[in-house]
Amino acid sequence: MKILTATEKPFAKTAIDGIRKIIESSGHQLYLLEKYTEASQLLSAVADADALIVRSDKVTKQVIEAAGKLKIVVRAGAGFDNLDLDACTEKNIVAMNTPGQNSNAVAELVLGLMVFMNRNKFNAGTGAELKGKKLGIHAYGNVGRLVARIAKGFDMQVWAFDPFIKKETMQADGITAVDNVEDLYSNCDYVSLHIPANDKTKKSINFKLLDLMPKGGCLINTARREVIDEDDLMKLLEKRTDMKYVTDVAPSNIAELQQKFDARIFATPKKIGAETAEANINAGLAAANQIVNFFKNGDTTFQLNK
Ligand code: 3PG
Repeated sequence: MKILTATEKPFAKTAIDGIRKIIESSGHQLYLLEKYTEASQLLSAVADADALIVRSDKVTKQVIEAAGKLKIVVRAGAGFDNLDLDACTEKNIVAMNTPGQNSNAVAELVLGLMVFMNRNKFNAGTGAELKGKKLGIHAYGNVGRLVARIAKGFDMQVWAFDPFIKKETMQADGITAVDNVEDLYSNCDYVSLHIPANDKTKKSINFKLLDLMPKGGCLINTARREVIDEDDLMKLLEKRTDMKYVTDVAPSNIAELQQKFDARIFATPKKIGAETAEANINAGLAAANQIVNFFKNGDTTFQLNK
């Protein structure tokens, strides 16, 4: 089988070496399309692929239609808002993700960003400590759980809201679990977002919610830009001169935000949450193994479009 890895943001070389080993030792061939700049490059590369591995690369209906032989696509990572699942289902293509494989990298970045903002973006001046402060985890999935665990090492008080996870599960981890999202925002000095981007969550982080945060509040977004109402964020930072926003997924109005609120805003130049050798290896190798097992045994664990 021809397995294409198409990554606009390539995997580390060690991850590619591992992916190649898994694929070739099972009698398949690996093809690479890395750092491509035009969607048309993906359209032609996918034409004769039997399987596809991507990261945040957009697998649109057009890509699926161009992929005449495709049987499986694996998003090496957690969020699958870049996959057109309906288009995959229509063509009987199995779509999967690799949940949990890059979570630690993202969780470590969250705490790094919090320290960075607390210390005036590593500039001179009096900063603040995380110890004793309240951190709200908005969605207690793989990343949220790890953020909670690391934050406890900083001696933070950790709160969480997740309507899909039993309160007892969170409480067993020593977390204060709240029943509604408003309680999370109105109590926590820091809120870290770990919600996916979907029809329910897009633009859900709005002025009303953020304005509930206590004085000096800081929102950390390593999830998706689409969950933020960007006009509301601008309005909030204008009104609440005490609040900060730090993100790994820059909003489209980042230039204006930086110009107006430089000391209170930070965005990484490019999404780096999962950009560690370890996360690349974990997610990349998991994707390769899932494809090999699918062709070998029909294994559809982690299928998203069941
Ligand atoms: C994910 O959903 O797994 C993360 O956002 C990582 O995305 P990336 O593979 O584009 O770095």
